[in-house]
Amino acid sequence: MNTIIKTRIELLSSQDYNGSYVLLSDNIESLSENNLKKEELKYILDNYKEGNKLFHFNRYTQQIWVHIIDKKAVKHIIDEEYRKAGAIIQSQFSALNIENVLLIDLNNNNRSLLYAEGIILSSYKFDKYKSKKDKSNIELSKIYVKEFTEREIELMNISNEATFWSRNLLNEPQMALDAQTITEQFKLMSEDAGFDLVVLNKKKIESLRMGGLLAVNKGSNIPPSFSIMEWKPENAINSKPYVFVGKGVVYDTGGVNIKTGDFMTNMHMDMGGAGAASSAIYAIAKAKLPIHIITLIPATDNRPGQDAYTPGDIIIMHNGKSVEVLNTDAEGRLILADALSYAQKYNPEMVIDLATLTGAAARAIGKYGIVAMRNEEADIKQLNKSSENVYERLVEFPMWDEYDELIKTDVADIQNLGGAEGGAITAGKFLQNFVDYPWIHLDIAGPAMLSAKDSYRTKGGSGVGTRLLFDFIKEVAK
Ligand code: BES
Ligand code: ZN
Ligand code: ZN
Repeated sequence: MNTIIKTRIELLSSQDYNGSYVLLSDNIESLSENNLKKEELKYILDNYKEGNKLFHFNRYTQQIWVHIIDKKAVKHIIDEEYRKAGAIIQSQFSALNIENVLLIDLNNNNRSLLYAEGIILSSYKFDKYKSKKDKSNIELSKIYVKEFTEREIELMNISNEATFWSRNLLNEPQMALDAQTITEQFKLMSEDAGFDLVVLNKKKIESLRMGGLLAVNKGSNIPPSFSIMEWKPENAINSKPYVFVGKGVVYDTGGVNIKTGDFMTNMHMDMGGAGAASSAIYAIAKAKLPIHIITLIPATDNRPGQDAYTPGDIIIMHNGKSVEVLNTDAEGRLILADALSYAQKYNPEMVIDLATLTGAAARAIGKYGIVAMRNEEADIKQLNKSSENVYERLVEFPMWDEYDELIKTDVADIQNLGGAEGGAITAGKFLQNFVDYPWIHLDIAGPAMLSAKDSYRTKGGSGVGTRLLFDFIKEVAK
C-alpha cells in the first residue's frame, strides 16, 4: 500500500505564528485594512466577483491567500463549497512548495475544517508504481486551524486517513490485491485501529454453504475469503450491532458472460463496497466510538476459468434458497446475498450493504450520488442526514412488490437477472430475499470509480461510502 497520509490538521497553539496563511471570508465586507495591506485590499475590491474567488499575495517571507466563498445556499451546499474551495487552493500550495499553512476564518463560521478536508482529500495520489514521482503534487505537512476542539480535529484527521485507505484499496490492481491479499490489508487496518479480524477460508465457506460466493469463485485459481471485522468497545451504547457488508469482487471480468469493449475498464475497483465498509470500521475503531460494529466482506474475483459457473446453473445459497444463474456478470448480488444471510446471526440493529452493484444505478444518476433502497423496517432519516453532512447524497429508489415478478423463475426460488428496465432495483429486490432485519442497500456503482478528478474526489477510487458511514455512526453515538 501507499504511505497513508502526510498532511495533519492541528490546532494552532503558538501565538506568534508567522508562516503562510489563508483568510477565509464568506463576504467581501469582512476584509479590511485590519487584515490586509491597503494595496492588497484595493486589488481584491477591483477584481472581486461573487462566487468562489481566490487571491494570492506574495509577501516574500510569507505567502498569503484570501479566499472569498460567498455562495448563498442551504447549509450543506455551502459546506461543500468550502471543501471544493480547499481543492482549488491545494495545487497552489504544491506549486509554491508550502509546508505549513494556517487557516483563518474571518467570519467564525466553523468551516475552516471543511476547507482543510478539501485540501487534504484533493492532495491524494496513487503513485507507488511510478519510478519518477510527480513533483508538482507535494503534500502539506500541517494545516493549522483555530476555533476547534482537539477532538473535532482528530475526527477529521481520522476521516481523511480512512478515505485514503479506501482509495488505496480500490486503486491497487487485481494483481496486487486479490481475495487473499486483501485480507492482509484488512489485518494491517485492524492492527492500526484496534478492531478484531477473523478471516474464513474456503473450507469454512464451504461448510457454511455459501453457495453464491463459491459459485462466483469457481472460475478462479485463487480461493475466496470471507472477512469478519468487529469493533466491540466495553462502553458500547447499543446492544444490537450495526453491520456493514461490502461487495469484495476484486476483479469482475463478467465470468463466462464476459464483459466486452470498455465495460471491463476499472473492474479492479469492483470491491468499492469492501473498501468503504472496511475503512469505515477502521475510522470508527480509531476514533473509539462507543458503538458495536461488524463489517462483513465476501471476496473473490469473477473469471471465466475452466470450472467457471455458467448460465443455467442452479445454486443453493447460505440461507437455503435456490437461485438460477442467468448471467454470470450479475455476480455481486450472489456474494452479497450469502453475507447478508450470514449477518442474521448477529441479530443486528441495522445492516447497511455497499456495492458497485449495477451499471443501471450509474446510468440512472451518474457519479453524483448513491442509489439507496431499504425495507420498511429500516429508518433512513439519519443516513440521509449524514449523506448531506458529507455530501455523498442518497437517492431512494422504490422497492415495490411488482418488481419481484421480474426475478421469478420456473426452476428455482429466484433468478439473478431482472428485465431490461429497473436494473438497480431488481438487484436490490434480489438481495431483499436474504434479509430479515432493518436493512439499507447502497448501490455505489456511479460515484465509486472516477474517470477524472472531480474537485477533491481524485481520479480512480473516490472512497465514497467511507465518510458517509463514519458520519452516520458518529451521529448514532451522540
Ligand atoms: N460490477 C458490475 C457493475 C458495475 C458496472 C459497476 C459499471 C461499476 C461500473 C456488476 O457486477 C455487473 O456486471 N452488473 C451487470 C448486471 C447485469 C448482468 C444484470 C450490469 O450492471 O450490467
Ligand atoms: Zn458483474
Ligand atoms: Zn461486479
